[in-house]
Amino acid sequence: MRVRSILGKMSPYVPGKLQPGAIKLASNENPLGPSPLGMKAARGCIEGANLYPDGAAAALKTRIAARLSERSGLPIETESIVVGNGSDELIQLCAAATVEPGTNVVTSEVTFSEYTYAGTLFGGEMRYAPLKAGGFDLDAIAGLVDSKTAIVYLCNPNNPTGTYFSEKKLTAFLESVPADLPVVSDEAYIEYVTAGDYPKTIQLRKKFPNLILLRTFSKIYGLAGFRVGYGIAEPGFISELDKVRPPFNVNIVAQAAAIAALDDEDFLARSRNLVAEGKPLLYRGLEKLGLEYYPSESNFICLDAGKDCMAVFESIMAKGVTIRPLKGFGLKTWIRVTVGTKEQNKLFLDALAGSI
Ligand SMILES: Cc1ncc(COP(=O)(O)O)c(C=O)c1O
Repeated sequence: MRVRSILGKMSPYVPGKLQPGAIKLASNENPLGPSPLGMKAARGCIEGANLYPDGAAAALKTRIAARLSERSGLPIETESIVVGNGSDELIQLCAAATVEPGTNVVTSEVTFSEYTYAGTLFGGEMRYAPLKAGGFDLDAIAGLVDSKTAIVYLCNPNNPTGTYFSEKKLTAFLESVPADLPVVSDEAYIEYVTAGDYPKTIQLRKKFPNLILLRTFSKIYGLAGFRVGYGIAEPGFISELDKVRPPFNVNIVAQAAAIAALDDEDFLARSRNLVAEGKPLLYRGLEKLGLEYYPSESNFICLDAGKDCMAVFESIMAKGVTIRPLKGFGLKTWIRVTVGTKEQNKLFLDALAGSI
């Protein structure tokens, strides 16, 4: 069958491995399950399944805007918000609105693979800056930007390394690139960040309206299976995204669950605490094993297992835990593990100890 020639150079996304019965620490999901308030709302809305969802997701956008305004102290209008079928879809929509053959897309090596997928799909040339100390090197990224750059994808904290860049670095970067260049900051893990110098991006958007923020209900809110994420950008850019967005991209269950989950303060606090308590325990365990890792601002840890990561992955899986081997990112001996419950973290450390 005839298909676009670019597909010859592409392959499907490889998700975290599903192993029935195994503890899944492979996809940075929330081990506490879904937000209870979100689930209650989801159950309560399914009778309306004969009707299309609100394609404009007005109620969800209103709630997101109100939440962001409360937290930032700045007025946020719903016209600055777009919701997507996961933030994955928003990564693609941003490329659909900006990238075409003859343009380039700039990001880092060793980051979320969907930026490459989106840029390549729309015919862009991918340009990657090398990692610096496990993190985004914003100076090197700025050095790759030219007049043909359609969009820049930044990931903060970065998946898979868990590292972050500061407000100072982001500000200097935004000052150094054209004011009309769309710059995405993918903040899928922002709710777990504790670093005091992490960028206050909602506030930064006032000075840099070309900054586009992507967030998700898949991680701390525990709603990955419902597929809902949101973006914050200038209203003009949101209108362009609406032209490339499928009309009913977020279903009724996802919209209802996300609205309710935004208010689930108790669940958010428990989820944050779990990660805050689990990370030091995991760090100590890794240090005891003599393994190098990157201190993480997210709910996962990237570590050097010291031998072929595929063998380590298979061995850990045989002990009932799935993690993510990072061979596909060019890190041949590194793995990524989601911070789990206390028991899961212990099981992982035991499995790792028996696999290296
Ligand atoms: C950095 C980053 N961005 C986006 C996503 C996609 O999340 P969603 O489930 O909202 O599509 C992920 C998921 O792992 C991620 O790690």
